[in-house]
Order: sequence, then structure tokens, then C-alpha cells
Amino acid sequence: MAAKIKSIYVCSECGFESAKWAGKCPGCGQWNTMQEEIRDTSVGKGAVSTISHTPTAQPMRIREIDTEEEARYHTGLTELDRVLGGGIVKGSLILVSGEPGIGKSTILLQICDFLGQSLQILYVSGEESARQIKLRAARLGVNSENLYILTETDVQAVVEQMRQTKPDLVMIDSIQTMNMTELSSSPGSVTQVRECTNAIMRAAKLLEIPAIVVGHVNKDGAIAGPKVLEHIVDAVLYFEGDRQMSYRILRAVKNRYGSTNEIGVFDMGDKGLRQVENPSQAMLEGRPKHVSGTCVTCVMEGSRPILAEIQGLATATGFGNPRRMATGFDYNRMALLLAVLEKRAGYYFSNLDAYLNVVGGLRLDEPAVDLAVAMSLVSSLKDTPVRDDAIVFGEIGLAGELRSVTHAEARVTEAARLGFQRCVLPAHCLRQISAPSDIKLYGVHNVREAFEALME
Ligand SMILES: Nc1ncnc2c1ncn2[C@@H]1O[C@H](COP(=O)(O)OP(=O)(O)O)[C@@H](O)[C@H]1O
Ligand SMILES: [Mg+2]
Ligand SMILES: [Zn+2]
Repeated sequence: MAAKIKSIYVCSECGFESAKWAGKCPGCGQWNTMQEEIRDTSVGKGAVSTISHTPTAQPMRIREIDTEEEARYHTGLTELDRVLGGGIVKGSLILVSGEPGIGKSTILLQICDFLGQSLQILYVSGEESARQIKLRAARLGVNSENLYILTETDVQAVVEQMRQTKPDLVMIDSIQTMNMTELSSSPGSVTQVRECTNAIMRAAKLLEIPAIVVGHVNKDGAIAGPKVLEHIVDAVLYFEGDRQMSYRILRAVKNRYGSTNEIGVFDMGDKGLRQVENPSQAMLEGRPKHVSGTCVTCVMEGSRPILAEIQGLATATGFGNPRRMATGFDYNRMALLLAVLEKRAGYYFSNLDAYLNVVGGLRLDEPAVDLAVAMSLVSSLKDTPVRDDAIVFGEIGLAGELRSVTHAEARVTEAARLGFQRCVLPAHCLRQISAPSDIKLYGVHNVREAFEALME
């Protein structure tokens, strides 16, 4: 059959396809995401589907479905296991994503050491040479008998390898370098990424081999390639953190086999990623004492309370419009809190620049953080330090009132464990706390009361 080549436009965010180019994607409404792709219509879908010889499935009684093989492989890193919901599920497809240099290849190679004691692992790299991988493995102290390195970018060849050698685990680093020769579009394009992931997924499910796939992110921090990639895989793990700082936070964005609230905290060093067993202590390291504009709060990351330091800075503006900047916290939420502080509590920020930073590279989007954000900004405004031994949490309403938050007891206990002496919290939360720890509780009703309870 003669090849019919045509050009189509595919949205790099949502995978929407159109015959015509558009500045704004009709599918998801994003600008400048439509990319041209050449498609050979004589192969395409037909050729792709011949790869799988999936036997037609039969309906089964739910009682008869065996869940036994949902056994999980432990990775040797409890922080990673936690994020995965207990380990790697057989036959599952996991996407690990994050900015370049954040540590994706490092963590995968690292877990090979532990997993390699009992499993055969196939590590496919399309980015680095076998020699480079060997050098990194030597640096990380990975020296496993059962770790096989394959430098290959042809996804069909990878699938063929999986079929022949039947490893217990496959790692693909990265999906953007994989390429399906039938498709005429270039590697990394939406169609290639999607079809390569599909091919890996089919092989993984058919052969019951779990696969971990590395995906790069684009400049906006979204996973490069279409959103459809997220729909295909069973779990999406996302690496966060400042490249300059050594802390790395691994978060599950999606997980079919576990909760998406859990995070894992790591520290990047020469020997690779080290688990941080006491994240609260790590986040508070180097905290300045007796300085205005800093405040400690307690956030819940899944089932785990973690203490975090928030810094605020309010200075006279040199511009017509005062500047507002927030790192690790929602910009709009900060603007709203400033408005509440001004209107409801009489703290005036309108001719001041206001900056906010969450120390340690954490990203906080829990309402319970509100009070600490407000207190760090007010403390800077008044140039009055917040007591060093105090932590605060609570949601702030539009009337300036403090609203109760969940898990008050867990937060208070964590603060007490790290030696904090007083905790300022919404008065309504006091009811949630049964066992008094050796920490003084100050139930407050509004931001003014909170600030008074916090001053030295
Ligand atoms: N001695 C070292 N040589 C190379 N990289 C190191 C060394 N020590 C620490 N690193 C860290 O390893 C990181 C590389 O991570 P990597 O796993 O390759 O990232 P990704 O695969 O996500 O792009 C570097 O950003 C650096 O912070
Ligand atoms: Mg890499
Ligand atoms: Zn789109």
C-alpha cells in the first residue's frame, strides 16, 4: 500500500488533534501548545495494535478475582515505598517525573541495588551510555549481579527484550528518548511519547513485568508530552525541590494502588539520595533565632505531620505598584491574606512590597498554613520577632476569623516532639485535643489575638 503522509497538529498538553493549526488548543484552552506532526496514515494505529496479542478477556465474578499477585516489591527505600503505597505492584506502570538533574536516574539506579538481590532488572537508557551508567553506579555503590543495562531507543526492541529475557522489573530512562519506527514523527513528540508508553504498558501488563518510566517535564513544570501519559500509567511520582538545595521531595500525583497524599523526603549527596527520617527537623535546620519575619507551622503531608518554616518580608516599595512574591505558597492566596490583614486587623501593607518564602523547597497548599503566612508577614511589618518556641496553624476566613483545621492533635504532638513550648491554634481546635502534651496551647479567635500570643 502506498504511504499516505499527512500533517496534523497535536496539543502537547492534552493530546488534542486537529487538521489545522490553532494558537489556542480547542481541547484544553492552552496557548501555543499545538505542534505539527507528520503522520503516515498507511501504518499508524493498525501497525501499533498488531504488537499486542492480548487474548480476548472473559468476564469474571468479582469474588473469583485473585488479588494475591498484588504482592509488592519493596524498593529498599522506605520513603519511596511509602509514596508508592507499600512498594512496586507487579505489572504496574509507574511514571517518575521531575526537572532535569533532580535525581530521577539516581533514585532508579539506587533501588537496583536492593531490588537486584532478588530480582532480574532490565535498565534501558536512551540518554546515557553504558559506561556513564557504570560510572554512576560505582559512585552510588550499586553493584548488583542481576542488573542488566540496555542502551536502546527503539521501543519495539525494548519490548522484544522484555519478551525474551522476562526480567522481573524494567526501567525506561527516559520515555522521551524512546522511538517507534513506524511513526514518522520525531522522538519526544506527543504521538511518539504516547505510543511508546502504550507499547511499554501493553508489554508490562501482558508479561506481568512492572515498569518504571522516567518522564521529563517542560519549562512550566508539567510532564512533557500529553496529559494522556498520566492517564495511561498507574502511578505518577513527581520530584520536587530546589536544585540548589539538597532536599528532594517525592510526591505521588496519581496512584491506582495507594494514597496520593504521601510524600517522601530525601537528601541529595555524593552517594546519591539519602532518606530523611526526621523531615521536621531537616526543614527547621538553620532557623534564625530572635529575628522578625519568620514563623513555624505544622502541615499534614498525608498521614504525616511535618514542621515547616515560613519567612515573610515587608519593606517600603520602590515602585508605584507594590510587589508581591511567593515561593512555595499560592500567590493569590497570599494576596487574599494581605487583604484580610489590612481590612480586618488593621495591618497595612498597601505601600509595602511583600515577599514570602517556604524554607526547604516545600510547597504548601493546605489552608492550615494561612496563620503562619499571616504571622510571618505581620512580624516583619511590625519588626517584632515571633517567639522561637512557638508554632502556629489555622485557616483564616475572610472576616479575619480563625477556622479550625483537621488533625490538630497530630500537629501539636509533632511540635511537642521537636521541643516547641507553645502552640497558637484556632480556639475551635482545642476540642479535638484530648491528651495534653507538655506544650502550652493558646486557642485564639482572630489574627490579632494570635499575634499577641506569639510576641516575646
Ligand atoms: N559527584 C557527583 N557527580 C554527579 N552528580 C552528582 C554528584 N553528586 C551529586 N550529584 C547530583 O546528582 C544529580 C544528577 O541527578 P540525575 O539522577 O542524573 O537527574 P535526572 O535523571 O533527574 O536528570 C545532579 O544534579 C547532582 O545534584
Ligand atoms: Mg537522568
Ligand atoms: Zn490541549
